[in-house]
Formats: sequence, C-alpha cells, structure tokens
Amino acid sequence: MRGLRDKVALVTGAASGIGRATAIRLAEEGALVVAADRNLPGAEETRGMLARQGLALRFDAADAAQCAALAEAALAWQGRIDILANIAGIGGFGHVTDTSEETWRSLVDINLGSVFHLSKFALPHLAAVKGNIVNVASAAGLVGTPYAVAYAASKHGVVGLTTSIAVEYASRGVRVNAVCPGSVDTPLIAGGFSMIDGIEEKLLDHLRPKLGPIATPEDIAASIAFLASDEARFITGALLSVDGGQVAG
Ligand SMILES: NC(=O)c1ccc[n+]([C@@H]2O[C@H](COP(=O)([O-])OP(=O)(O)OC[C@H]3O[C@@H](n4cnc5c(N)ncnc54)[C@H](O)[C@@H]3O)[C@@H](O)[C@H]2O)c1
Repeated sequence: MRGLRDKVALVTGAASGIGRATAIRLAEEGALVVAADRNLPGAEETRGMLARQGLALRFDAADAAQCAALAEAALAWQGRIDILANIAGIGGFGHVTDTSEETWRSLVDINLGSVFHLSKFALPHLAAVKGNIVNVASAAGLVGTPYAVAYAASKHGVVGLTTSIAVEYASRGVRVNAVCPGSVDTPLIAGGFSMIDGIEEKLLDHLRPKLGPIATPEDIAASIAFLASDEARFITGALLSVDGGQVAG
C-alpha cells in the first residue's frame, strides 16, 4: 500500500487481537509502530513480531492523563506521529437491567473516552504532517445490538466522534475514518452471548455475517492499513463495515 513506508503509527490495543494484527501489518507495509497497551508484556511480544523497528509502551486507556502521556512518548520517539489507530477496547454483554454502573463506566471510558483523549492530544501533531486517524468502532456502533447496551453506546459514540472530527479537520488535511467489524475471532468475544441467561435468540439473527462464520484479526488489519495509507487519500469520515454483510440487511 502506498504511503506507509517510514510513517510513525501509534497503535493502541496492540498486545492482542486486531491491535496486534494491525501493528504487524503496518510494519510489513514499512511503518514504524508504537505498540501501546495496558498489557506491556503483550505489547513487547508484539514489538518482537514487527518487520521493522518498533516501540512498546504501557498505558491505561481509561485514564486521560495516561492517554496524553502516551501521545507525548510516541511523539518523542521519532519526532512525529503520522497515524493514530485507536483499537484498544473491551467487550461487555448482558441485559440492560443487569448492567452495573461500573461496567457502564469502564466501557464508556475505555472504548470511547480513550478515542477522544488520544485524538485530542495527537491532532496537533497529525495536522503538522497531514496524518490520519483510524478508529475501530463496530457493527454495534451502526445498528442496535441487544444485550450489549453499554458496548453499543460506546461504539455509536466512536462513530459520532469519527465523523465529527473528520469534518472539523478536513481543511487541515487530517483524515479520520472508522472500521466497523462484525464478529472477529479474538479473546474479546470469548463466550459472548452464550454466557447470558434468558436471551431471545431471534433478536440475534441480524448479527450473523452472511459471508461466513467469523472474521480474522488480519481481515480487519488489512482495512485499517488501507484507510491509513495514501490509497485512501480522498477518504475521510468513512465508516467501513468489515462484517461479512452483517449490517447490510
Ligand atoms: N472481536 C470482535 O468481534 C470485535 C468486533 C467489533 C469491534 N471490535 C473492537 O476491536 C477492538 C480490539 O478488540 P479485539 O477484538 O482485538 O480484542 P482483544 O481483547 O484481543 O484486544 C483488546 C486489547 O485492548 C487492550 N485494552 C483493553 N483495555 C485497555 C485499557 N484500559 N488500556 C489499554 N489497553 C487496553 C487489551 O489489553 C487488549 O490487548 C476493540 O475496540 C473492540 O471493541 C472487536
């Protein structure tokens, strides 16, 4: 993909799943990757898998000050940030009335708050190099998703944040896009809806991908790399479904 060579990419959630696959793919395309996660050993393991020089950093996405410190540390590494891939996130499934305040708070803080904080701190540096942001939202950010009220609300928030910053920063040459995966084979969905008692199975029918059972993390990483590259130079504010046709109908 054009335009990724020697670009500095800050990838959150890089210790596992989609974040790890994205760090690996971006490095294969020639980028220099900062692999950030609250799981530092996992991020360091990812760094060891990269085709190019990389840096592993620990941060807690739920903490605004740690998001600011991460952006500063990533900037200090090579003196620039070209790509911010906001991938860190957690899952959370259950009936609305069983969703605790703590679950609500951590889903919103981690899945949505971190995308706001990291974008806010990285945007001046991205504008300096006409860089871009790729957020990982979800099919649950586009359509109603039963038994996932806090998760779906956080991902709808990521969608609104993506399109809003895309419009605000277009004249400064910063592109902002989101990938919206359906089900992806990672630890985040282990157990999933099967762990919840008393669900109406038919309400889940619209969540099944038409193309096959499940995507791989590499399927999502390929779309993130595309949106981050110059191949997507005229794409901003896009919500790219990578869900095997799940939300198409
Ligand atoms: N797996 C799916 O089916 C699916 C579908 C749609 C969207 N997504 C989204 O993809 C993203 C990546 O998820 P995944 O499926 O690769 O899951 P994963 O569990 O494999 O990876 C998530 C990573 O985020 C990190 N993380 C979690 N909380 C953090 C925090 N507070 N601070 C820093 N790092 C933190 C974890 O340590 C982990 O390395 C998430 O935003 C998720 O919502 C996943």
